[in-house]
Amino acid sequence: MRILVTGGAGYIGSHCCVELLSEGYQLVVVDSLVNSKPEALRRIRRITGRDLEFYRGDVGDRELLERVFSENRIDAVIHFAGLKAVGESVQVPLKYYRNNVCGTVALCEAMERHQIKRMVFSSSATVYGEPERCPISEDFPLEAKSPYGRTKLMIEQILGDLASSNRDFSLVILRYFNPIGAHESGLMGEDPNGIPNNLMPYITQVASGRLETLNVFGGDYDTPDGTPIRDYIHVVDLVKGHLKALDKATSSAGTFVYNLGTGRGYSVLEVIRAFEAATGVRIPYRIVDRRPGDVPVCYADPSKALRELGWRAERTLEDMCRDSWRWQTMNPMGYDDQD
Ligand code: NAD
Ligand code: WQD
Repeated sequence: MRILVTGGAGYIGSHCCVELLSEGYQLVVVDSLVNSKPEALRRIRRITGRDLEFYRGDVGDRELLERVFSENRIDAVIHFAGLKAVGESVQVPLKYYRNNVCGTVALCEAMERHQIKRMVFSSSATVYGEPERCPISEDFPLEAKSPYGRTKLMIEQILGDLASSNRDFSLVILRYFNPIGAHESGLMGEDPNGIPNNLMPYITQVASGRLETLNVFGGDYDTPDGTPIRDYIHVVDLVKGHLKALDKATSSAGTFVYNLGTGRGYSVLEVIRAFEAATGVRIPYRIVDRRPGDVPVCYADPSKALRELGWRAERTLEDMCRDSWRWQTMNPMGYDDQD
């Protein structure tokens, strides 16, 4: 099978490419490199010893997509490409609507022209807004609280309408919780631009001395230690869920939605302690004001994915910390020093 992976040079997409190539799939990657580096593609080849087709460009570029679909017989699309910085999406919402929503519409139009009817889409737990309780199951009410989150919600709806309009279409929507960790080789991981927004990349940069102190956003939440709770999932477990989703898209028509999380929540302070225990490196931190938009508690009920896909996360928080740290120590400046 030949898979088009949009956003395949990014953090999750690159790990997914490794998994897919290792399982024998042929790959075509389209990525604009707006938030990634060509070195990530070289690392995919290095880890797997296999090659892939790469087109540098935007999924919103109709001519490019026409070329991609004419030159390659694609069986299914895994659609990772998108901008993902929640704070930035509040500052420049139109950039997010154009890139994420318009880009997806253009991709779907090209798929329709070429009669490609299988898609796996990267959605996010952010579509649950502030959940009334946890664990969160897929039938919870949806409410996005940022322009970024609204792009995910809109895309879910657009893809759902497309799938309903064609009884042969298979759509698998995956709602990720908090992906962290890195490939166990240490050759591939998350390489944020500038100062990281997310917890684990910030912790690893404090651990390596690149940043001084971790700011813990809020110590007065209604949680056991006062800091927010999230469902952190190892990126390799997460991408294995995509292979199961691909099987589903190949065997059944319709729309299917799954949470990809571990079902276990950890507070910010628990993550800091787990990182220190796994690596032996101390993380200096201070508790500061809450970050606007953060919800107190968010963790998945992942039982539907187990029941219907036969998938469950296997790696522990200790594995996630150890692998993130190996990536950071082996690549202190991320992929930057390679280009
Ligand atoms: P990432 O930024 O590392 O990867 C996204 C990739 O898509 C990048 O390589 C970027 O260059 C590319 N891209 C962006 N817009 C594009 C466009 N219009 N055309 C072509 N390429 C484009 O992000 P990631 O963490 O790997 O996330 C992948 C997907 O998963 C995104 O859709 C994101 O919204 C979603 N997601 C991520 C998280 C997370 O915490 N990382 C959580 C939930 C959902
Ligand atoms: C986790 C916890 C922070 C940084 C985001 C997106 C979500 C999804 C996953 C894409 C929170 C705290 C963080 C720091 C801190 N992405 N924190 N100091 O916000 O749960 O989810 O990524 O879809 O949509 O919102 O993840 O890693 O930013 O934060 O105290 O420097 O760590 O307050 O409690 P979040 P995160």
